[in-house]
Amino acid sequence: MRLFISALLLALRLVAAEDGSAAWLRYAPVPHAANTSRITPSEIVALNSTKSSPVYTAGQELQRGIAGIFGRKLNVSAQASSALSTIVVGTLETFTDAYGDFDEAEDLEEDGFFLCATGDKVVIVGQNERGALYGAFEYLSRLAQGHISSVSFISNPSAPIRWTNEWDNLDGSIERGFAGPSIFFRNGFVVDNVTRVAEYARLLASIRINGIIINNVNADVQVLSARNIEGLARLADVMRPYGVQLGISLNFASPEDFGKLNSYDPLDPKVDAWWANVTNQIYAKVPDMAGYLVKANSEGQAGPLTYNRTLADGANMFARAVEPYGGVVMFRAFVYDNHINETDWKADRANAQLEFFQNLDGKFNDNVVVQIKYGPIDFQVREPASPLFSALHHTNTAIELQITQEYLGQQCHLVYLAPLWKEILEFDLRADGRPSKVKDIVSSERFNRPLGGYAGVVNVGTNSTWLGSHLAMSNLYAYGRLAWDPSLESEAILQDWIRLTFGFDQKVLNTITDMSMKSWPAYENYSGNLGIQTLTDITYTHFGPNPASQDNNGWGQWTRADKFSIGMDRTVNNGTGNAGNYPPEIANMYENIETTPDNLLLWFHHVPYTQRLKSGKTVIQHFYDAHYEGSAVAQTFVKQWESLKGKVDMERYEHVLFRQVFQAGHSLVWRDSINEFYHNLSEIPDDLRRVGNHPYRLEAEDMRLVGYKPYSVSPFETASGYTAIVTTSNSSVGVATANITFASGTYDVAVNYYDLIGGKAQYHLEIGNRTIGAWTGDLEDKLGHTPSIYLDGHSATRITFKGVEVRRGNMVKITGQPNGIEPAPIDYISFLPPGIVD
Ligand SMILES: *[C@@H]1O[C@H](CO)[C@@H](O)[C@H](O)[C@H]1NC(C)=O
Ligand SMILES: *[C@@H]1O[C@H](CO)[C@@H](O)[C@H](O)[C@H]1NC(C)=O
Ligand SMILES: *[C@@H]1O[C@H](CO)[C@@H](O)[C@H](O)[C@H]1NC(C)=O
Ligand SMILES: *[C@@H]1O[C@H](CO)[C@@H](O)[C@H](O)[C@H]1NC(C)=O
Ligand SMILES: *[C@@H]1O[C@H](CO)[C@@H](O)[C@H](O)[C@H]1NC(C)=O
Ligand SMILES: *[C@@H]1O[C@H](CO)[C@@H](O)[C@H](O)[C@H]1NC(C)=O
Ligand SMILES: *[C@@H]1O[C@H](CO)[C@@H](O)[C@H](O)[C@H]1NC(C)=O
Ligand SMILES: *[C@@H]1O[C@H](CO)[C@@H](O)[C@H](O)[C@H]1NC(C)=O
Ligand SMILES: *[C@@H]1O[C@H](CO)[C@@H](O)[C@H](O)[C@H]1NC(C)=O
Ligand SMILES: *[C@@H]1O[C@H](CO)[C@@H](O)[C@H](O)[C@H]1NC(C)=O
Ligand SMILES: *[C@@H]1O[C@H](CO)[C@@H](O)[C@H](O)[C@H]1NC(C)=O
Ligand SMILES: *[C@@H]1O[C@H](CO)[C@@H](O)[C@H](O)[C@H]1NC(C)=O
Repeated sequence: MRLFISALLLALRLVAAEDGSAAWLRYAPVPHAANTSRITPSEIVALNSTKSSPVYTAGQELQRGIAGIFGRKLNVSAQASSALSTIVVGTLETFTDAYGDFDEAEDLEEDGFFLCATGDKVVIVGQNERGALYGAFEYLSRLAQGHISSVSFISNPSAPIRWTNEWDNLDGSIERGFAGPSIFFRNGFVVDNVTRVAEYARLLASIRINGIIINNVNADVQVLSARNIEGLARLADVMRPYGVQLGISLNFASPEDFGKLNSYDPLDPKVDAWWANVTNQIYAKVPDMAGYLVKANSEGQAGPLTYNRTLADGANMFARAVEPYGGVVMFRAFVYDNHINETDWKADRANAQLEFFQNLDGKFNDNVVVQIKYGPIDFQVREPASPLFSALHHTNTAIELQITQEYLGQQCHLVYLAPLWKEILEFDLRADGRPSKVKDIVSSERFNRPLGGYAGVVNVGTNSTWLGSHLAMSNLYAYGRLAWDPSLESEAILQDWIRLTFGFDQKVLNTITDMSMKSWPAYENYSGNLGIQTLTDITYTHFGPNPASQDNNGWGQWTRADKFSIGMDRTVNNGTGNAGNYPPEIANMYENIETTPDNLLLWFHHVPYTQRLKSGKTVIQHFYDAHYEGSAVAQTFVKQWESLKGKVDMERYEHVLFRQVFQAGHSLVWRDSINEFYHNLSEIPDDLRRVGNHPYRLEAEDMRLVGYKPYSVSPFETASGYTAIVTTSNSSVGVATANITFASGTYDVAVNYYDLIGGKAQYHLEIGNRTIGAWTGDLEDKLGHTPSIYLDGHSATRITFKGVEVRRGNMVKITGQPNGIEPAPIDYISFLPPGIVD
């Protein structure tokens, strides 16, 4: 019978659609389940648990997991049992009450757990209820990965604060979210159906996240409405069984904009009383609210500076309000003036954090945590660690990481982020000449603070994949794992995630590992390298290339690129002095070009394009080469993924393949745009003569056009030859034709075109009177990145038809049917001989 059920479950599993909603909690049957089932206990005891308690959840989860993995349904009871063959899960208190003391007990810290599994007996003891649930998830993760050997160990968190931030707006949209609308809000209010919120809390609990800030840091005062406070209570109720506490972002001006006071001065007793009252109202409904997150005096947000009060005055006002309830105030260090003047060589946004916060060290209440982005600017593809981590010795700090890939491909490019985070977390800032790794500062250990930890901007949406991309989920998984234990290796974390998400096939494991581990270096290579920042469009969507957008505005993400030189001079000697914000050993390293690592050269130094790197290459040649190398690696991801056909279920296989093909095409847009831009600016040729030289291309503007006309694209570098074609009207078709002058043969025919939001143009490609393909400009439905209404580096994309027979003299014909504002724009057609990508 048991065997029959296993077989049945296995069969079900194989046909079941894998839409991504189960993420890494699939509990798929493991190979050799027959063997392992023999050593699995026959009963689960969730000690003294009552419904809605995390220990109860642990019991249910163990039951669910074991049913999935072994096809066996175990009973769960709340009473201690003397049966030998049990899984007992409980808190330290209930466990010792039932079974007596055990040696490891005294080493358990808050949220920590003890897991001891030997044969039929499994003991999971949490320091608290949450810890017990974490221990249960840990045991299941081991079983699901086929680890059945005996274990006995204690695991404690690196830091007490392990939160996510969700930038959800009350109208249901999500700032920098790429997976559909909000799971928390709709039409101004908390959603009625909270099922998916509970599912999300479960996912977070499994990676030991203990808090969520559910609304955008650019906060809407209406989150405080009576109806929304009721809604917060409903959300907190469904997250509580998972040990995940709810918190909210606040708008600093709420007393005025919502409360009708005539001030929001943090030192005005009326304002103080107003916040205390609001806070009391919320805690009456959500007694275990985690606390508040505040973005003040940043990017147009209100804050204490309006009243000549300090940021600490502002933070402490909230701290007083939540203090009676044990609440925490996360206060963002992302404060800067976005109207600085580039003509001032010494102006530097990267200095803002220290300018605003250094003098406030020690002035924040003990329940305030200053939440610091990992680098001094804004989640760029590479930044040095923020010097603020080493400057605050008497203030709690947390590191803010971004899981949502705002500047890093918006979930349409594979970028496994753990290696980036690790570089920052392991970076030793040498405060006071002593070891001061970022991970040990935010854990609260280095400066011996009461609080510290992690805030990860996730922005999950209603899409079944959670983040819009199956592969992007490794980032959420890794975030939780690193927040618990930052000493873990990124590749080991990744491989746990792969086994849990895709199963045990060795080729699947090796392939996804290889792709993921190359993905950040590849993205850095074809976007912005040498520390110049991502080079995306900082004034628009943060997705595609637009290097010029960095400069000549007040945002301070400058590159200071001119005809001869590039980079920010952040030296003390002649620049903005930013290098001097670091403790002396680090400051000296960054002050000197010789000791600055190449990958941060242009972050700290302004140099000629002909400056030699440690590799021996010039800066400009490195740009050219790295953009070619990175985009070439992105092409290999497609082939690597294709090699997994049949080893991954079709639904996920197709979904991922679509994105990898997109990335491969868009990486070429990146490569050519950045290389063209600096080639044009510097007029320094590429040693390998690739840049500006594309022998396999037929430029659309060189074709015979009927109903189409040439169009100068802006930014210019995002079109091959700076020009594309668009239909002459927004209703009638355009036709572009040309005689093929390439030698007869078999080619991959690639069409580069622009897919704008606001229309779904249709295209038809013919060669020699044969239809090669037809497609629709509907990526806005299929990809989920921030769309563009222009022909630019965000909308530029490629479609490829493989193995097309072409004869010299054949006519190639593209017909474009415009739709809405989308004038069926085309950039060029490439005829690529086998093995060539251009
Ligand atoms: C069970 O385990 C034994 C020894 O570990 C092994 O020889 C055998 O092949 C396993 N059987 C199954 C069905 O996996
Ligand atoms: C599980 O519980 C059911 C219903 O209470 C009971 O009939 C069954 O015998 C139990 N199974 C085991 C193995 O204890
Ligand atoms: C757990 O439940 C048992 C039986 O109901 C009770 O005797 C014991 O005191 C409880 N333990 C705790 C710590 O509440
Ligand atoms: C609530 O949402 C879940 C999925 O998120 C869905 O399965 C369920 O049917 C919804 N319930 C209602 C009452 O709409
Ligand atoms: C406290 O807030 C509630 C709800 O917004 C409001 O009804 C009440 O008047 C406030 N009390 C004070 C003293 O401001
Ligand atoms: C803040 O201080 C500045 C300079 O001291 C002064 O001009 C300004 O009026 C003050 N603003 C307020 C709101 O007090
Ligand atoms: C920047 O400063 C320069 C020199 O002082 C001045 O000419 C220019 O108008 C300023 N630009 C802006 C945008 O304020
Ligand atoms: C999720 O997004 C994909 C596009 O990436 C889309 O095809 C799919 O329909 C979406 N699914 C849900 C449930 O929103
Ligand atoms: C020093 O700074 C000036 C601007 O103040 C800049 O023009 C010059 O290039 C810098 N010199 C060096 C050696 O970097
Ligand atoms: C990135 O570029 C560097 C420098 O050119 C090169 O050594 C490295 O192999 C490239 N890596 C990837 C993944 O593109
Ligand atoms: C293609 O070649 C034919 C004959 O050589 C010529 O008449 C025709 O105009 C050419 N068409 C295009 C689009 O260049
Ligand atoms: C295709 O059709 C066009 C127009 O009907 C003709 O001029 C052309 O020669 C045909 N053949 C090829 C191989 O392009």
